[in-house]
Amino acid sequence: MGSQPKTGINCPLAADCLVLPFFKTVWIKMNQPKRYLITAALPYANGLKHIGHLAGAYLPADTYVRYLKAQKRDVVFVCGSDEHGTAIPIQATKEGTTAQAIIDKYHPIIAQNFKELGIEFDIYHRTSSPLHHETAQEFFRVLNEKGDLEIKESEQYFDEAANSFLADRYIKGTCPNCVYESAYGDQCERCGKSLSPDELINPVSTLSGNKPIKKATKHWYLPLDRHEAFLRNWILKDHAQDWRASVVGQCKSWIDGGLQARAVTRDLDWGISVPAKDAEGKVLYVWFDAPIGYISATKQWALDNNKDWKPYWQDKETKLVHFIGKDNIVFHCIIFPVMLQLHGDILPENVPANEFMNLEGDKMSTSRNWKLEMQDYIDDFINKENGGPQLADTLRYYLTQIAPESKDSEFTWKGFQDANNSELVNIFGNFVNRALVLMHKLCKSKVPPLHPELFDQLDKDTIAEIAAAKQRVEDYLEGYKFREALFEVINLARTGNQYMQKKEPWILAKQVDENGQVLPAAQGVIDNTMHICLQICANLAILVNPFLPFTAKKICYLLKVVDRMLEWQNAGQLNLLRVGYNLRPPELLFRKIEDTEVAYQIEKLHKALENSKQEQAAPTIETSAATAFAPVKAEIVFDDFAKIDLRVGTIVSAEKVEKADKLLKLNVDLGFETRTIVSGIALHFDTAAIVGKQVTVVCNLAPRKMRGIESNGMILMAEDASGKLHFVNPEDSIGAGAGVS
Ligand code: 2FM
Ligand code: ZN
Repeated sequence: MGSQPKTGINCPLAADCLVLPFFKTVWIKMNQPKRYLITAALPYANGLKHIGHLAGAYLPADTYVRYLKAQKRDVVFVCGSDEHGTAIPIQATKEGTTAQAIIDKYHPIIAQNFKELGIEFDIYHRTSSPLHHETAQEFFRVLNEKGDLEIKESEQYFDEAANSFLADRYIKGTCPNCVYESAYGDQCERCGKSLSPDELINPVSTLSGNKPIKKATKHWYLPLDRHEAFLRNWILKDHAQDWRASVVGQCKSWIDGGLQARAVTRDLDWGISVPAKDAEGKVLYVWFDAPIGYISATKQWALDNNKDWKPYWQDKETKLVHFIGKDNIVFHCIIFPVMLQLHGDILPENVPANEFMNLEGDKMSTSRNWKLEMQDYIDDFINKENGGPQLADTLRYYLTQIAPESKDSEFTWKGFQDANNSELVNIFGNFVNRALVLMHKLCKSKVPPLHPELFDQLDKDTIAEIAAAKQRVEDYLEGYKFREALFEVINLARTGNQYMQKKEPWILAKQVDENGQVLPAAQGVIDNTMHICLQICANLAILVNPFLPFTAKKICYLLKVVDRMLEWQNAGQLNLLRVGYNLRPPELLFRKIEDTEVAYQIEKLHKALENSKQEQAAPTIETSAATAFAPVKAEIVFDDFAKIDLRVGTIVSAEKVEKADKLLKLNVDLGFETRTIVSGIALHFDTAAIVGKQVTVVCNLAPRKMRGIESNGMILMAEDASGKLHFVNPEDSIGAGAGVS
């Protein structure tokens, strides 16, 4: 007893004001790229982004980058706002503002949302920046001057009423692929197929609603047809095995379908001006400039960090990986690579595109309001009193667990709750918590020593499993299989739980001598068990860090180890915690998600859908005023009316009812008493503004419970033509309790 462990190097990386070992990590693998440039699709800065976006590109990219960084590899993770294209002016029209105001509004919100969910870019740039404009123009100029672009005059759709050529997004019609009637001129939002406006059946201008005419205009084209051989070779031969089958499949159908020249300029007044002669009023096509945004973001990062950006785009030893959703495949696998090759830059090593994530049985859609925005999740879970960054990890966990890596997947609130409660809380959190609780109880709050001479087969197998789990997680991550990698992490926690359960140290602790001291042999086994469990906790922190970074940090805090322990090379070992050190008291890593929270979210989703349906169907104020009077109800006699006791009351206090968007809890002074009344008016009034207001109250209505609060009466409201509510009150302020008849 008392001897040091034989497993691993006896060189604890711990903890607790310890001086870290003075060795520099050198961890080079054969064939490892010299550096990595990781990109995540630049989201349009035209509105809030939902969790489908998060799961599609940003979360897997962040996980991969965190893994690479934990390996101390040279990696730059770039992203930013895509601020051109028609999506921006279209939103500006909707919000009654300018395109510039739209990007200035959404860019910082989206950046902040990512941050709060632990998506840690090295730079979150903007394509409206001068550096990006210059970079994109230079790119165009190089290709144009080399003769890599073709100039063609063609007939384009033109809206005579609006006196404007129509960008693809301004034309709607029927999709030739799935007959969806509201497909855009560049893409069908239902089936995801990329389209050109000419392919639409019955095209209509969204500016005027008219059928557009054709008019001649000149544009610059990228002749993809010239590059078929290169694309076939590079994608269908070189990457047929290592790229996802769905990505290769989509590329193959594009190539087999016959590659055509794609226009890279547009007649539009929002975008980057075309740097060529006779190009007045023309801008670069957004899909030409947006991916160049990865390059300009790298340049800005290099400027900010005193680095050279060029090797990241020009040195063949750089591994470039684009994380995207499946609707972006053609742009990242066909068009941009052709551009990069012509410009003399490196090509992506991989493009791990995800499929789509549905929500509660339906496709996520911003226009139909069927979505969960990152901002909503942050408000409802992270920024709540019982929330915090741990709740960001809960979402990260579930989204990775259901990542649509090979087929579309589905987010359900019940699934979210189950993943949290049965895996994060019951398996992972429970294991770490039990390990700490028992260590405090059975090992005097210190990391106990190991006694290898007492190891049984279960100890040896469990120790071996730590290294094996690390290897499996690593292999899956290297292959962009994030779901499987995460499963292995949870499985290690499961192994830890089973190990602890089989060893039953709490039973051994009952083997005491006459003084109540645990017998040495029993204490030896307890020490081994708890030491191994604590080392598993430390290993779990390292392995879970790419997925759940907030949790990893919290475990480091509880184990009193510095964050440097999270370096990947430390995983798989049994020497991470120093024997004899005091650890912090246990704190729960995760909290349960309650049924009420699930019900609230589902209700909220349906309400939002209903609201958007109503908004879309809502008549204008002028027309509704003329037509929307409800029919008069059936006749009553005076005695019916006389049964209703109406009184004037004064609102003395008002507060929102928790988890009920519409309800206010009011205290109303009726002169003879003050009543609690719950009223469904929260969407119409500010609580502070209505205190002191006089209202008319039905005061003999039978009490009714709403959200657990007893409501004693009803406040009369009048609804105007726009649906806004108004109190019905006496013209002049009068004493509370006055009868109304
Ligand atoms: O689909 C989108 O949201 C695009 N804004 C993605 C652009 S990715 C890259 F090319 F910038
Ligand atoms: Zn379609």
